[in-house]
Amino acid sequence: MRIVVTGARGRLGSVLVEKLKARALDVSDFDIDTLDVTDFAATQRQIAALKPDLVIHPAGWTDVDGCARDPEQAVLVNGFGSQNVALAAAAAGAAIVYVSTNEVFAGSASRPYREYDPAHPVNAYGYSKWVGEQAVMRLNPRHYVVRTAWLFAHGGKNFIQSILNAATAGKPLRVVVNEIANPTYNDDLADAISALIDTQRFGIYHLVNEGVCSRYQLARYVLDQTGFAETPIEPISAAEWSRPSMPPVYSPLDNLAGKSIGIRLRPWQQAVDTFLQREQLLTHEP
Ligand SMILES: NC(=O)c1ccc[n+]([C@@H]2O[C@H](COP(=O)([O-])OP(=O)(O)OC[C@H]3O[C@@H](n4cnc5c(N)ncnc54)[C@H](OP(=O)(O)O)[C@@H]3O)[C@@H](O)[C@H]2O)c1
Repeated sequence: MRIVVTGARGRLGSVLVEKLKARALDVSDFDIDTLDVTDFAATQRQIAALKPDLVIHPAGWTDVDGCARDPEQAVLVNGFGSQNVALAAAAAGAAIVYVSTNEVFAGSASRPYREYDPAHPVNAYGYSKWVGEQAVMRLNPRHYVVRTAWLFAHGGKNFIQSILNAATAGKPLRVVVNEIANPTYNDDLADAISALIDTQRFGIYHLVNEGVCSRYQLARYVLDQTGFAETPIEPISAAEWSRPSMPPVYSPLDNLAGKSIGIRLRPWQQAVDTFLQREQLLTHEP
């Protein structure tokens, strides 16, 4: 299978490329310097030249606060950029994987969101990703729309690292109790996508580590596993954590479709343990 990956320098893209190459698949990868997906002509040309069977598109503008400050740019990159990739993939006869987010949902549900629940984005980032979903689903029938949530990855900026940095520096910790979703390890997500692309079972997937928690519970878990069990955290509400982008408050995803074909990710606590162990931060055996 010949595969093109966009956003290959990103948290998910980089690990995905590594894992696909390890399977001896024929992978061509682009970062923003070699393919800016907002450039329609370049996207068409570059993808057509490679004659791929599949285009995997994790590239996007993921700075949610930046998107809130510049919603038009968010739609340009995440919405119309994804439209360009979907059109180029369709023209080349390739299927597409579009990586989307739990933030396409309103966050007012009483149970985790299922794949075909109606989307209702409540912030600029969520709206721009939803525009991308619509374009991909309408323009390329051979699509996998993979929604995920709260990615953590080695080497990049992430919530777990921010909590540990604050605890190490002895800074007071205030963490939101009512923002709830699924912490997801980029490594596990890349494995799941790698399995999904072999299935030809196109559709929408919610690929997240199993289980749900609040930001507060995640922070507490990380501190307890890393020798900071005595470090206090002040619980606050999302409304008290002022930022340009308001996240959907309750937006965990339920992986029904993946599970039905044997693609499930381990519980988030196990994934966090592995992450911490690889960072040599875990203070006990997992
Ligand atoms: N991170 C999360 O918590 C999370 C949660 C749910 C869903 N997702 C989705 O998962 C996907 C992967 O996320 P991630 O955390 O791996 O993101 P990431 O680390 O920010 O990587 C995204 C990549 O896309 C590139 N990019 C930005 N604009 C581009 C453009 N116009 N053309 C081509 N490439 C461009 C970025 O390049 P530069 O950095 O050089 O600008 C970056 O390398 C995204 O689509 C995101 O919406 C992420």
